[in-house]
Amino acid sequence: MKAIRVHDCGGPEVLKYEEIPVPEPKTGEARIRIEAIGLNFIDVYHRTGLYPLNRPFTLGMEAAGVVDLTGGGVSEVKPGDRVAYAMVPEAYAEYAVVPAQRLVPVPDRIEAKTAAAIMLQGMTAHYLTRSTYPLKAGDTALVHAAAGGAGLLLVQIAKMLGARVIGTVSTELKAELARQAGADEVILYTQRDFLAEVKRITDGKGVHVVYDSVGVSTFDKSLDCLRPRGFLVLFGQSSGPVAPFDPGKLAAKGSLFLTRPSLAHYTLDRAELLQRADDLFGWIQSGKVKVRIDRSFPLKDAADAQRELEGRRTTGKVVLVP
Ligand SMILES: NC(=O)c1ccc[n+]([C@@H]2O[C@H](COP(=O)([O-])OP(=O)(O)OC[C@H]3O[C@@H](n4cnc5c(N)ncnc54)[C@H](OP(=O)(O)O)[C@@H]3O)[C@@H](O)[C@H]2O)c1
Repeated sequence: MKAIRVHDCGGPEVLKYEEIPVPEPKTGEARIRIEAIGLNFIDVYHRTGLYPLNRPFTLGMEAAGVVDLTGGGVSEVKPGDRVAYAMVPEAYAEYAVVPAQRLVPVPDRIEAKTAAAIMLQGMTAHYLTRSTYPLKAGDTALVHAAAGGAGLLLVQIAKMLGARVIGTVSTELKAELARQAGADEVILYTQRDFLAEVKRITDGKGVHVVYDSVGVSTFDKSLDCLRPRGFLVLFGQSSGPVAPFDPGKLAAKGSLFLTRPSLAHYTLDRAELLQRADDLFGWIQSGKVKVRIDRSFPLKDAADAQRELEGRRTTGKVVLVP
């Protein structure tokens, strides 16, 4: 089968489209014939080595497809089932072997590309707004990179939960997409000081929560956007990692909370995984949440897709098709 492999970490040019053996499922695993692969920023961190993996490795953490073969002791799925998953490596390929526990059944009406688009970013938007800082009606939330993959979903879910949402984006086109997703206010943080704008919009009070996936370029001001006892939910670092931090600052700035969550710890068991997926598929089928697939690339062009993501030229989700 064909797969995108990394032998040496580096820029997008290190991605190699290679022929490797089709993997065999072991006990408790299922083999998936992949129909759509989700592109995520974590793929960039794996490629560059910011999150180290043993080399060589097949990239990718999210896909949807059809169960092709199961190993022994698998009761969760059977051959022919449509499934999707995230946070299991080696998805940039024609086939992948996945622990059956991590597979989510995909409803008939949901296309493979949509399923592959929400398993990582959608589940993340779910846990951030429902569990990490459970949003309630009347809360004000600041969402950075509001037109990104995670961002557009976060804005929609936050609005659904009754929050007032302020989004930040880099361009007018992205601002329009964030507004269409329901953002009440949108700040072009490449042109205006988002801290001053947040203070103005909230009459100096600040927001209850900041969902910050941008990292080093936004972190300090995100803290200053919070009202006393507010939550900074730092869930990524698209602009680069945040430097070591003195917890004393949290007291000085208003007894703030800082958390750095990961999806893995919010889908701890199968019940939690299925519950979050069920909510998401339900919201999509009822039209409450819309999934924007920005572009599809053939798997062999994964390097081009990553260049677009890193270059801030994507909105919503990008998928790869084997
Ligand atoms: N912790 C978790 O569980 C979890 C799960 C999923 C994703 N994440 C994180 O969430 C973040 C977003 O992931 P995503 O896949 O949805 O990507 P994305 O938001 O679609 O793309 C990244 C966006 O970040 C913004 N950005 C700001 N400064 C940037 C810079 N210097 N370089 C590149 N982008 C920059 C850009 O939006 P503007 O042009 O509007 O600024 C860009 O479009 C990533 O950091 C990812 O690791 C974390």
